[in-house]
Amino acid sequence: MERIDLLLTGIGRLVTPQGSVPRYGEEMRHVLEIEHAAIAIRGDRIALVGPQADVLAQLNGAEIAETLDAGGCLVTPGLVDPHTHLVHGGSREHELSLKRSGVPYLDILAQGGGILSTVKATRAASERELYDKAFKSLDIMLLNGVTTVEAKSGYGLTLDDERKQLRVAKRLHEGHPVDVVPTFMGAHAVPAEYKGRSDEFVDLLVQEMLPEVAREGLAEFCDVFCEHGVFTIQQSRRILQEGKLLGLIPKIHADEIESLGGAELAGEVGAISAEHLLAASDEGMRMLAANGVIPVLLPGTSFNLGLKQHARAREMIDTFRLPVALSTDYNPGSCPTESIQLIMMLASLNLRLLPEEIITSCTINAAAAIGRANDIGSIEAGKRADLTVFDAPNIAYLPYHFGINHTFGVIKNGKVAVW
Ligand code: NIG
Ligand code: FE
Repeated sequence: MERIDLLLTGIGRLVTPQGSVPRYGEEMRHVLEIEHAAIAIRGDRIALVGPQADVLAQLNGAEIAETLDAGGCLVTPGLVDPHTHLVHGGSREHELSLKRSGVPYLDILAQGGGILSTVKATRAASERELYDKAFKSLDIMLLNGVTTVEAKSGYGLTLDDERKQLRVAKRLHEGHPVDVVPTFMGAHAVPAEYKGRSDEFVDLLVQEMLPEVAREGLAEFCDVFCEHGVFTIQQSRRILQEGKLLGLIPKIHADEIESLGGAELAGEVGAISAEHLLAASDEGMRMLAANGVIPVLLPGTSFNLGLKQHARAREMIDTFRLPVALSTDYNPGSCPTESIQLIMMLASLNLRLLPEEIITSCTINAAAAIGRANDIGSIEAGKRADLTVFDAPNIAYLPYHFGINHTFGVIKNGKVAVW
């Protein structure tokens, strides 16, 4: 055995899904659990994992640069947050009383507030300000055990302001331990200057923004807010198909508030993921399953919007055998929280997911939703050494003992990022 850079010993319990593809339906419950485990890391890769006695026996004679004792903690793969609106200016607490007085989310947007209020703040912010604000959020995410985050644009809504957000995401990826995966979401809202002329804004998106974003390599994915009063099915289809031709993989905010056929469209265009899906139809879920689309569920959003309805996660898993993923949807409007552990709790409470399903949703399935299941999302030799260490006896403890941060340590790319 060659040199080992970091040996993590004293793991009370290691829990991980296995493989490099999403876990479907009942497979989501099949996680590997090892008591008294150890993990050997070389560079940014996992070299060995298993019961501690076995790992130590295999390492006999190897040079070990550093050993770290996990003190009996629980270790899982580094958590993946596959749907966030990380980079934005300002905040929207001024809309809280309006929301609490019962004004619906889409009405606030129609009145020029909501997303459009964040568009104003984002346009006004410098790149430095956007970077510093998002950097703080990444710190919070990392401290909560997250090692990879997807980040959408969509608060610029001009070519230059969208590019500004995406450049910030790129710089964050380079400057922060957490990996940041960029998504172009110019179709997040129709900006005030195009009010009543949404088709013209779609022309601008398709003719100018998408080609330039693709040319500069600023995004991997293209997302659309397909919703009543925002972008129609036809407009969403056009944007996603044009993006696809330019090499941007489709994602969709689908059936978040009304059942519009967004899930069906996700299946039709071969999206990698469809997000929200509260109001998705049976046919929509069948289309997701038939086309290998990953449903990314965001229980923090339905919770924070005070909705009675939640995504039909149990049916997605039990009936449609879908590979459910979870995410915060961190954004300043519908879900202002970076806490993936709160999302785990809400997934247990409102989506009725089992602890094993929650871990799978936040690791391998979340990784698959951003096209990275071959690199992250499980603890296996050859995978990236991204690990989260929880001060908890088992995975059920995470959603059970709620409202606190259980993270004890984080290893990112084989380096100690939190301890
Ligand atoms: O995923 N639905 C659209 N976009 C975000 C909310 C963005 C905002 O309110 O600023 C979402 O819920
Ligand atoms: Fe979102």
